[in-house]
Amino acid sequence: MLQLLRERGFPAREIVPFASARSVGREIDGGLVVRGLDDESIQGFDLALFSAGGSTSGEWAPKFAQAGAIVVDNSSRWRMQDDVPLVVSEVNPDALETHHGIIANPNCSTMQMVVALKPIHDAAGIERLVISTYQAVSGTGKRAVDELLDQSHALLHEREIEQPSAYAHQIAFNALPHAGSFAPGDDHTDEERKLINETRKILGDPDIRISATCVRVPVVHGHSEAVNVQTRDELSPERARELLAAAPGVTVLDDPDAALYPLAIDAAGKDDVFVGRIRRDPGHERALDMWIVADNLRKGAATNAVQLAELLHERGLLRRVREPSAA
Ligand SMILES: NC(=O)c1ccc[n+]([C@@H]2O[C@H](COP(=O)([O-])OP(=O)(O)OC[C@H]3O[C@@H](n4cnc5c(N)ncnc54)[C@H](OP(=O)(O)O)[C@@H]3O)[C@@H](O)[C@H]2O)c1
Repeated sequence: MLQLLRERGFPAREIVPFASARSVGREIDGGLVVRGLDDESIQGFDLALFSAGGSTSGEWAPKFAQAGAIVVDNSSRWRMQDDVPLVVSEVNPDALETHHGIIANPNCSTMQMVVALKPIHDAAGIERLVISTYQAVSGTGKRAVDELLDQSHALLHEREIEQPSAYAHQIAFNALPHAGSFAPGDDHTDEERKLINETRKILGDPDIRISATCVRVPVVHGHSEAVNVQTRDELSPERARELLAAAPGVTVLDDPDAALYPLAIDAAGKDDVFVGRIRRDPGHERALDMWIVADNLRKGAATNAVQLAELLHERGLLRRVREPSAA
């Protein structure tokens, strides 16, 4: 987020990094000194970008909001709360107007998918989605990236791998149908539930039927998604391609004869959502299949958070409003 604020020239007078007590006093990002969270240190901010996990957001986002800042939160803590807008900059920016001090940044696999689905939903309505994801390990954090690289190195050198810790099984040279975690009694992972619930909230359509399987694959950066989209009205692949080519934040790469389609390694480091393999589902006259890829740490997280900050600034929404309700 710090890198993106700089890259995009966000007009902040001052940027202050906060982290846990173990990092207080550290210098990061060319001289910014890390502060700890306490009732005094959080005073005087217009905007707070949070990415510190659900429990820290649960405790400190309302305190920042009460101190006058507008919070954009990356965790899942507030996403499904009714009075907290869940916003993707290209999809539902007007939802920002309804904020009560806290705005939620969606889950990465949901984020990239809804950017591509929005023009289709507007043109033909979406009745049902069947989604399979191929998610990069950086979505789990640095520890998982290290684990993939360490395991790959060990196996290529014919050594035993250490006991996996980031995932339940070896991730190198494997595919795990277990992205996220299983809550007791639930046969879906929390990642699959987020994809279902957040998509409906962002598109403002609780009737969309959604089936999701989230898979972790040995890719460092870039989530890929095979999405079957059943529309309410007829929509040809050609028209879908035109709509997507004109949509903000989307790049269409779709020439299978030339082996041109989105790839995670090409999306890494970019802000757009890439869509290809757009074709008629031979099993349904109103369904299309497509392949959607984006950098999970950029558009899937930091880029959207900074885009929301920019929109809040441009629309004059960086001011205190009513308090969020506790939940
Ligand atoms: N689409 C998305 O929006 C998206 C994508 C990826 C991740 N996430 C979410 O973002 C959150 C963070 O993920 P990450 O990979 O960025 O984690 P991370 O690399 O571990 O960073 C977490 C940061 O939070 C700080 N922190 C932890 N506990 C704190 C506390 N009690 N008080 C103050 N600061 C605290 C840490 O401080 P130290 O540096 O001192 O340890 C660290 O700087 C998670 O909730 C994750 O689910 C969201």
